[in-house]
Amino acid sequence: MTEVNQDIDLSLYMNASAIQDLGPVIEGVQVWGPVTNQDFRKTFLDWYDKESRRLPWRESKDPYRIWVSEIMLQQTRVDTVIGYYARFLAAFPTIKALAEAEEDQLLKVWEGLGYYSRVRNMQAAAQQIMADHEGIFPDNLADIKRLKGIGPYTAGAIGSIAFGIPVPAIDGNAMRVISRLFMINADIQKPANRKIFEAVGQYLVDPDRPGDFNQAIMDLGSSFETPKKAMPELSPLRDFTMATLTGTTDNYPVKSKKAKAKPVYYQALILQNAKGQVLIEKRTQHKLLNNLWTVPLIDLGTSANQDLPANEKTAFLLAESQETYGISPIFMRKEVGQVKHVFTHLIWHIQLTYGQLKPADEKRINDMITSGEADYAWVAPHQFDDYAFPTVQMKVWQAYEDYQKDSHHNIK
Ligand code: ADE
Repeated sequence: MTEVNQDIDLSLYMNASAIQDLGPVIEGVQVWGPVTNQDFRKTFLDWYDKESRRLPWRESKDPYRIWVSEIMLQQTRVDTVIGYYARFLAAFPTIKALAEAEEDQLLKVWEGLGYYSRVRNMQAAAQQIMADHEGIFPDNLADIKRLKGIGPYTAGAIGSIAFGIPVPAIDGNAMRVISRLFMINADIQKPANRKIFEAVGQYLVDPDRPGDFNQAIMDLGSSFETPKKAMPELSPLRDFTMATLTGTTDNYPVKSKKAKAKPVYYQALILQNAKGQVLIEKRTQHKLLNNLWTVPLIDLGTSANQDLPANEKTAFLLAESQETYGISPIFMRKEVGQVKHVFTHLIWHIQLTYGQLKPADEKRINDMITSGEADYAWVAPHQFDDYAFPTVQMKVWQAYEDYQKDSHHNIK
């Protein structure tokens, strides 16, 4: 017997819904039949034709443009992506331009979007396309899936939108919408359950307009079928949605709790030279935020040294500065501020300390910059455009600026 992944007997709802016929059981989910499926697709696409969002990447079927949008949209909200999208395409108008871009410029254009491996993978894929496909984006699913950074969702989205390939694009939005349609109770957090939603999605997708169908799901998932505060009674699919008909929208999708993000603690050093510039360094050999610039961050591990008395803390910072940077800054005892930043699996808690460099130490740093021994730089705010800073560093700059504005303090 196959597993049942559904909380409802669909046949009992034939009279109380838009369901006119029953179809096969797919991965333990009883779906509606072909007559209902046609009706469902028409209802959904009619709504999409009237109500779809006008978004910049919907103005073109160019696979490169679709690809860029889908990668940006993977972990980032539509509103945020809109601000980056045109700039990215202006900087890298073609696959070739992306393949040949300097990494620093690439990171600068991506600055603040987060999940930087997305853009690194995209560049690797662009290079793959130059090498294997003569610079032309492949038009079949097998080749699309072989590109770095393109998983089943993105392949489905690009394949359906740019090339009209009749496949679903299953991301969290799609799993939410589909789980509510059929009251599917499979935990969407479990990778093994993806195949259930892919198979049901494959049954549902309109073979003539797969790209519009998949984007209709995205629009529904961000309007009437949001994760919280859904308004399912206003959805064009209300009569097809079993969770709406049974008043159980909030039970779907079933999603086990994620492991909690782990706190880690850092001491950020705002170190000024005689010109009032601040020391930054490029992160190298890091998994997170590699090749982006931050002020020096001293790793305090998972349990903070927060509670040390001020003099011990200064001693600790001096020892660390000496060991890592070979310098002994003049630290101010008072904290400049605090910054918190949440990554997927980590929460950074950063305390900011201000220090000034003595001339000999400044020279040490300058010698390392000149010799290329270390990726350090001195910056003033008007030079910020020359470096790619992650969002967490933007928060550090903001905290420092707030501190300087506070008229009680007078640095310089
Ligand atoms: N999220 C992911 N892809 C999208 C698209 N093409 N339109 C709107 N939101 C999306």
